[in-house]
Amino acid sequence: MSDIKPTTTLEEITSLSKRRGFVYQTSEIYGGLANSYEYGPAGVEVLRKIKNLWWDFFISKREDMLGLDSQIILHPKTWEASGHVNSFADPMVEDKITHKRYRADHLIEEWLEKNKIANPPVVEAMKLEDMANFLKENKVKSPDSNEISEVKNFNLLFETSIGVIADESNKVYLRGETAQGIFSNFKQILDSNRVKLPFGVGQIGKSFRNEITTGQFVFRTLEFEQAEIEYFFDPETSNWEALFKDWQDKMWYFATEILGIDASRLRWRRHDDAERSFYSKDTYDLEYLYPFGWKEVWGIAYRTDYDLKQHMKFSAKSLEYTDPFTMKKFVPHVIEPAVGVNRLFLMVLCDAYQKDETKNRLVLKLDQKLAPYQLAVFPLLKNKEELVKKAREIFEQLGKKYRVSWDERGNIGKRYLSQDELGTPYCLTIDFETLEDDSITVRQRDNASQERIKLKDLEKYLTDMLA
Ligand code: GAP
Repeated sequence: MSDIKPTTTLEEITSLSKRRGFVYQTSEIYGGLANSYEYGPAGVEVLRKIKNLWWDFFISKREDMLGLDSQIILHPKTWEASGHVNSFADPMVEDKITHKRYRADHLIEEWLEKNKIANPPVVEAMKLEDMANFLKENKVKSPDSNEISEVKNFNLLFETSIGVIADESNKVYLRGETAQGIFSNFKQILDSNRVKLPFGVGQIGKSFRNEITTGQFVFRTLEFEQAEIEYFFDPETSNWEALFKDWQDKMWYFATEILGIDASRLRWRRHDDAERSFYSKDTYDLEYLYPFGWKEVWGIAYRTDYDLKQHMKFSAKSLEYTDPFTMKKFVPHVIEPAVGVNRLFLMVLCDAYQKDETKNRLVLKLDQKLAPYQLAVFPLLKNKEELVKKAREIFEQLGKKYRVSWDERGNIGKRYLSQDELGTPYCLTIDFETLEDDSITVRQRDNASQERIKLKDLEKYLTDMLA
């Protein structure tokens, strides 16, 4: 048994998020909306930075990668071709008294954990009838301790309609994944770019799933952002195992080196034959130790030529690639690394959360690339005009290069503590000494140390520290 523990509890993360403006409940003034959250002023900075870093690392810096921004509402045949209309479903049961619905697999997982079963079955690999048998044999009840209904599949796609008449002929879906926009644009991408296999297409965008499991904060929501890549290759000339391993290494590097996640709280989990989709030759989840256990952040699957072939069948258009040297015509195979940006965000927040017992403070040790503010500037006292004037000058100057927070409320200690919770790496205080000798106090978030820096040396100091 490993003794690695989550950094914190979900309650602590949600309360910090609300207090400091990282994440809010959606429509709070109306009582909230299940599985929906908003990103506040601090959260949106972190979220954007994660997306920019992903785009920079996986698209901008690679010659073999192209970007795309496809629509949320696609032609409805897309989802018939992809299999989502028929089989994009979760197993559900209903509480016979309250009529609340629950995911059958989640009830089983909770039951196994509560009853501390040795060698528990792999729930992800259970079929509908296996779940039904398990629930019956173990007399599993709903969270309200009531009897539950039979297990049924519940489709996760959100339906809507185009135009004024809401009938079958106008029915469309909010996309359940961004990936299908890449497959359905494959021909146009080939026709409009000089691309040679292997190459990939990536996009970041909103996806929608009618999730009913509550209580996992931004981990599982109705509306979320995916960052997905389809990497196309010729299986006769490229070794898929080597490509797959290379993508796994890139995902790991991004999580540990770019986002700065502690590797001890990350692990790979391979899908076994029962869990893996029938068209996939290999699938792994990159899991993080969230406050509610090891859970999938990022998936990688070798999907073969399944998706392109399905779209060829449903559109009656060729999605073949012609090798420019050999003139061989074929449907490329694909490896798909797919991540939820909101799950990366939650991982980043949880991993950075630290209680500094010695100094009785809470610190968000975010990598400085991800912090909502890189700097904070304070005048020691807000009613001393000359201090405020000098601090404002410094704030405005630094604001041209960095995201800087201004705070003049309350005592200086409280201001430091609130910046620690926001993850601001450096706080600069302008005091009476500044007016005499042009030096300021620079206070570091991680060890709470303070030093005096001359204003003439500040630019170099910050360039070195915030490289
Ligand atoms: N195209 C493949 C695909 O969509 P997936 O495992 O269903 O695969 C990919 O989703 C990623 O999207 C997951 O690894 C997860 O990070 C994120 N994701 C899926 N459902 C989510 C939800 N309801 N809320 C937040 N993120 C979600």
